[in-house]
Amino acid sequence: MCGIVGYVGPQSALQVVVDGLARLEYRGYDSAGVAVLGEGALHTEKRAGKLANLRGALEEHPIAGEGAGIGHTRWATHGAPNDVNAHPHVDNDERVAVVHNGIIENFAALRLELEDVGCKFISETDTEVAAHLLSTELARHGDKDLAAAMRAVCKRLEGAFTLVAVSVDDPDLVVAARRNSPLVVGRGQGENFLASDVAAFIAHTREAVELGQDQVVELRPDSVRVTDYDGNPVEVNEYHVDWDASAAEKGGYDYFMLKEIVEQPRAIADTLLGRLSVDGALTLDEMRLSPEDLRSVEKIVIIACGTSYHAGLIAKYAIEHWCRIPCEVEVASEFRYRDPILDRQTLVIAISQSGESMDTLMAVRYAREQRAKVLAICNVNGSTIPRESDGVLYTHAGPEVGVAATKTFLTQLAACYLIGLYLAQVRGLKFGDEIEAVIAQLATMPEHVEKVLDTVEPVRELARSLADADTVLFLGRHVGYPVAMEGALKLKELAYMHAEAFAAGELKHGPIALIEEGLPVVVVVPSPQGRSVLHDKIVSNIQEVRARGARTIVIAEAGDESVRPYSDVLIEIPAVPTLLQPIVATVPMQVFACELALAKGNDVDQPRNLAKSVTVE
Ligand code: F6R
Repeated sequence: MCGIVGYVGPQSALQVVVDGLARLEYRGYDSAGVAVLGEGALHTEKRAGKLANLRGALEEHPIAGEGAGIGHTRWATHGAPNDVNAHPHVDNDERVAVVHNGIIENFAALRLELEDVGCKFISETDTEVAAHLLSTELARHGDKDLAAAMRAVCKRLEGAFTLVAVSVDDPDLVVAARRNSPLVVGRGQGENFLASDVAAFIAHTREAVELGQDQVVELRPDSVRVTDYDGNPVEVNEYHVDWDASAAEKGGYDYFMLKEIVEQPRAIADTLLGRLSVDGALTLDEMRLSPEDLRSVEKIVIIACGTSYHAGLIAKYAIEHWCRIPCEVEVASEFRYRDPILDRQTLVIAISQSGESMDTLMAVRYAREQRAKVLAICNVNGSTIPRESDGVLYTHAGPEVGVAATKTFLTQLAACYLIGLYLAQVRGLKFGDEIEAVIAQLATMPEHVEKVLDTVEPVRELARSLADADTVLFLGRHVGYPVAMEGALKLKELAYMHAEAFAAGELKHGPIALIEEGLPVVVVVPSPQGRSVLHDKIVSNIQEVRARGARTIVIAEAGDESVRPYSDVLIEIPAVPTLLQPIVATVPMQVFACELALAKGNDVDQPRNLAKSVTVE
C-alpha cells in the first residue's frame, strides 16, 4: 500500500522517480507526487488520481532540479484522495519534503502539539506531522543533519511507517526510515535508489540492500549508510535480484493480469524446480527448518489473507490427508485477537505473496512470541515476513504486477503441496507410494495448466455474455470449496459484482433461497475417481439449483459425462488427483473474472479501491 521512490545521482531525479512510480502504481493509485531538489529550492508537484494525471501536470509545468528526488503513489488512509492530501508533504518553510507509507497512529496528539507552536497544517493526512516534526528537529540540528533529525522524529512516532525525506540544505542526500512498512535500497554505480519494491529500480540496478526494522538509511551518490534509531551503524544484508526489468513489463499484453495468467505454467515449474529429485524424494534445503523441527510438530496453523488464505484452506486438506497432523486455517487479521493456543510444537505457516501484508506480519510476530515455529511461503525475496520467520519456502512466480493474485496463487498451492509432502516424508509416514505418485503428478501440473489455457476461449465468450449479470454464485465441495471462494473473490475485485461462494452441502441450509431464473451458478466438480461420493453429491447439488432455474456453469474433469446433462455450460479441465485439482480448476475462474471485468470496461490491473500489498491493519 503506497509506493515510495527515492533517487540520488547524476541522472534526472525527476525522470528516475516518475519511471519508478510507474512500476509501483499497483501499490496504490489514489494520487501521485514528486519532490526534487535544485537551485536551493524544493520543487514539488502532486495530483489526485493515477500517475497519468501527475505526468500531465509535469508536462504543463515542468519542474527542474539536479539534486535528489522522492516520489509517492498513494492508497489513501487519512484524508480524501485529493491534490492537497497527495504526498509529498512539506514543512511551512518548504525546506523539507516527506513521503510516507503506513499509518502514524499518534498523529492527532502530535498535530495539536505542533499547532500549539505555530505550525500551519494544510492537509488532513497523518503524514504532514512528520514533515513539520522533521523541520523542527532539523532546526535543532543546525539545519545540517537530516538523518539525525529523522532518527529523532522516528522515536516520537507510533504505528507503521516508511518515511523518505529530502532537504534543501543537503541536495545530494535522501534519508529514509523504516518501521514495519517495506523499503529496499538499490545500489548503483555513483547513484543509489530507494523504493518500496525492487521493481522501481530494477531497470538501473539488480543489487539490493534489505533494510531491517527501525533503521534509518542515508543515501548519497557514492554511499549508503544504515543506522539504528540511536545512530549506531548496523550490518545490512545485500542480495542480487534474480529477475530483470522485462519480467515487470507487459510484454505485448494489454494488461499485466493477462500476461500473468499465461505465465502460470512457467511459474509453477520454477517453484518446483530443484525440489523433486529423480528418486522421488523432496529436498527443501532453503527452508531453514530442520527435519527434527518438523518431526516435533503436533499442530499446524495456517495464517494468511485474501487469495493467500484460500491457498491455505486448500493446503489444509492436503496436509491433514498426507501427514495426519491437525491443521487450522485462519484469516490473519482475526488470528491474534482471539488468544489462539500455540506452543513450541505448533508450526505456523504464514502465506503471503508480498511478504508485507500487515495483518499476516502481526500474526507472525504474535505466533513467535508464543514460541511457535513460523514457516513463511512468500514470493518476494527479502521481504519482512520471511525475514521474521524461522523458515521460508519461496515461490518463484516472478513479479506480479496485476493487483489480483493469479500466478502467485497457483505457485502458493505448489509450495503448500511441497510442504505437505515434505512433512510426510520427514515424518516417515506410511503413504510412501502415494507420496511418490503425487510428487510425479505435481511435476506434470505445468503442462496441465498449459492445456487449460489452450482451451479457455469458450470461457471468455461466456464471460462476455454475462457482463450484465448482477450476481454470480460459486459452489464447491472439499478442495473445490476454496476454489469456489477464489473464483468469487476474483469476480468481486475485478468486475465489482456480487459474487459469493458456498460449500455445496450448505446450499439447502439457506443459500438456495437466492436461486432464481437464469442466475449463473459456477460449480466446481471433484474428480469422479477416488472420492466418488463427493462427486455424486455435487452432481445432486447441480440438479437442485438447476431445478430452481439456475444457469449452471460446470467445471469438471474431461470425460466426466455424468455432469453433461445438467450443465448449461461445461468447462472441461484435465484429470488430476483430487487434492491437486485446485491448480487446474482455478484457471478458468481467473480467465472468467478477467474477461468479464474487461467486458465491463474495468481496469483489471488496478481495480478500484484496492492496492496490491496491504501494509496497514
Ligand atoms: C486478491 C489479492 C489479495 C491478496 C491479499 C494477501 O487477488 O490479491 O486478496 O491475496 O491481500 O496478500 P499477500 O499474499 O501479499 O499477503
